[in-house]
Order: sequence, then structure tokens, then C-alpha cells
Amino acid sequence: MPYAQVAGWGMAVPSRVVTNNDLVEMGLETSEEWIETRTGIRQRRLLAPGEATSDLAVTAAQRALEVANVHPADLDLIIVATCTPDHPVPATASLVQDRIGAGRAGATDLNAACSGFVYALSLAAGQIESARVRQVLVIGADAVSIYLDWQDRETCILFGDGAGALLLQSSEEPGILSTSLGSDGSGASLLMVSAGGSRFPTNGDALRNGDNHLVMDGRQIFRLAAQMMGKAAEKAIEASGLTTEDVNLLIPHQANGRIIEAAAKKLGLPPEKVFANLAEYGNTTAASIPIALCEAIEEGRVKPGDNIVLTSFGAGLSWGSAVIRWGLPLPVEVSSWRRWRRRLGGRWSAFRSSLRKRGRRVRSFMDRKYN
Ligand code: ACO
Repeated sequence: MPYAQVAGWGMAVPSRVVTNNDLVEMGLETSEEWIETRTGIRQRRLLAPGEATSDLAVTAAQRALEVANVHPADLDLIIVATCTPDHPVPATASLVQDRIGAGRAGATDLNAACSGFVYALSLAAGQIESARVRQVLVIGADAVSIYLDWQDRETCILFGDGAGALLLQSSEEPGILSTSLGSDGSGASLLMVSAGGSRFPTNGDALRNGDNHLVMDGRQIFRLAAQMMGKAAEKAIEASGLTTEDVNLLIPHQANGRIIEAAAKKLGLPPEKVFANLAEYGNTTAASIPIALCEAIEEGRVKPGDNIVLTSFGAGLSWGSAVIRWGLPLPVEVSSWRRWRRRLGGRWSAFRSSLRKRGRRVRSFMDRKYN
């Protein structure tokens, strides 16, 4: 049975930064200090006018393909985990497929809210393990800012927009070791946008009542998220045949610093084995885990052979966890590659195309360095 191995990664966030202080200045009844101490969030990125989820997804996808040096025409499948598609129809994944030029790939969206990326990863890994496909691009992309009521201080402070992507490849080496998924629809109303679907189409009444906004029972969600993120991770770790002592890094859904602490405590993991970047981006829904993984790689927190646990909780209610054995010998080589990139600054593109012209293909570079 082939394994599904991570071969590339990429992220994209909008350029518009909104700090806690900006929210105060917008007239929200809150304070910088309250938001930071109660959530751990200092700022978030929000879509600029005219920008949409697929714009972020396309950039993240292109970066993941570049890291893996895979041509988009070689992709078999694209899954976009999102609860904020560009349009109700068609799937955002099809828009991404067209824009990156993945002419041979199937494309579909998946909605499991904040757990969407782990769900997509699990389904993609299953496709590879059953040998139906060889290369799948898994993208988590969301712009929950479109659903926010900017007067609802309990909700609007939490979220940001962004996208992250992983390229999964068929491999003889593991890979995704295990996944565990769960759902409890009896808690649907705890976190919901009620209008905009077939039950309550968006009409004048819905807009007047604010039913197009995300509403949340923050305390219940907090309690359940802290509990279920830990439980889901325990289940996935057990299914992988590992124990928590074998875990090198936990990448939890970036909902609230206190939720992350509680989940880590449940697993008995010390803070140095937990990655958090929600201070910079807030909760980016399906994008939060792949964005955090990209930054963990960039910071040198991921080494070859590491066991990495992803765990998430979100609307549905839904939860999911995955255990990954990191297969690429990173980050040392990629860091030096990126150091070059930084050193070259604006000359990077010219350098890269001159490399390509001379036939020095990045693929052979990657093969020599990493295999
Ligand atoms: N600024 C100032 N005061 C506020 C704010 C704010 N932004 N928001 C709430 N308060 C007030 C409340 O009104 C309350 O006042 P009261 O005591 O006079 O009634 C007080 O602060 C305490 O409210 P709590 O709800 O107890 O505050 P808590 O510490 O639980 O924090 C929060 C609220 C941040 C929403 C928290 O419950 C939370 O993070 N919940 C999880 C929500 C979440 O992560 N949802 C994302 C989707 S699901 C997922 O991603 C896991």
C-alpha cells in the first residue's frame, strides 16, 4: 500500500492587517488588552475589497507546487476545505484548478468549517493509499470575515482570513500515519450562519435580522473545543501506533490561546512541543492548521522523522486529528534555499528563470538534496 507523503507546502494571507487597536478605533466596545489576554490574538489579516477566498487559495497552491517542484498539469485531485467559497456554485476548487492550470485534476470543495483541512487531508490520504491517485493538492482557505457582525465583540475579534496548502504525493515512506474524524450535529446551533442556504435563503428579512452573520455560543464552544481537540488527537496518536511521548510537535487549530493550552495539557505536551501563531493571524478557520504548519517549517521547528500531530475543532460540530511522520529532510536545506532567496531580494525571479534557462531544474536540486 502506498503512503501519502507531504511534498510541498505554501500559505497566503491578505496584505490588509487589522490590529486589536484598529477594532477599538472602529468603535467596538472592547480593548486591546482584553482581546490579547482572553484570546492570545494581537492582529488578523482581512480580505481587501475585491479579494476572494480563491485568490488566497491560488497563491498558497502555487507556493506548495513550487516547493515540491510539481507541475500543475501533474495533479490528480484538488480539494479545497472552505466554508466561505467564492460562490455557492461552482466549487471554489474548480476555480483554483483552472487558475493554476491543473488541466488533468478533479476538483471539489469540502465544508467541515475549522476542521475542514484535517478532513480534506484524511480523504486525500485515503485516495493515495488506495492507489487511485498519486498527487493531491489539499488546500484550506477561508475568509470568515464575510460573515462577521462587527458589532458582536465576542465573535468578530477572533477571526482572520487566509489560505494554506499541502501537496500530498504517493510514496513508499510514511507519510500520513493516521487520522481520526468526528462530528456531532446536535451542536449545530452553537456555531452557525443560519441564512444563505436552502433552509433560509438570503433575502431581505434575513439581512434585516442579521441571519447572514456568524453566531456563536463562545463559552460552550470554548469548553467543547478544549476537550475534543485533545480527545481527537489521542485517538489519532493511538491509531498511529505511537504514544504522546513520540510526538515532536502539536499543531492545533488556532482558535484561542487558552483552548490550545488546554488541549496540550490534556495530551501532557509541554509548551515547547506546541506551535501557535494565532497572535498574528487570529482564527483562519480551515486555513489555520496549514498556515501554522508552513510557519513551523519556516521557523525550523520541523525535522525529518518528526511525528507531527494536527488537531482541530469547529462548527458542525466537527473535529479531526492527523499524525504525520515528516519525510522530507527539512528545514535545513530549505532554509538555506530561502536564505538565498532573501539575499537575492528582487533579483530572485531573474535568478530562478536563469536557472531554468540553463536547464538546472529545481526538481533535480530537490532530488539530490532530499533523497
Ligand atoms: N471585549 C471586552 N469584553 C468582552 C468581549 C470583548 N471582545 N467579549 C466578551 N466580553 C465580555 C462578556 O460580555 C462578559 O461580560 P459580563 O461578564 O459582563 O457578561 C465577559 O467579557 C466575560 O465573557 P466570557 O464569555 O466569559 O469570556 P471568555 O473568557 O469566555 O472569552 C471568548 C470569550 C473569547 C469568545 C471565548 O469564549 C472563546 O474563545 N470561545 C471559543 C470561541 C471560538 O474559538 N470560536 C471559533 C470557532 S470554533 C473553533 O475555532 C474552535
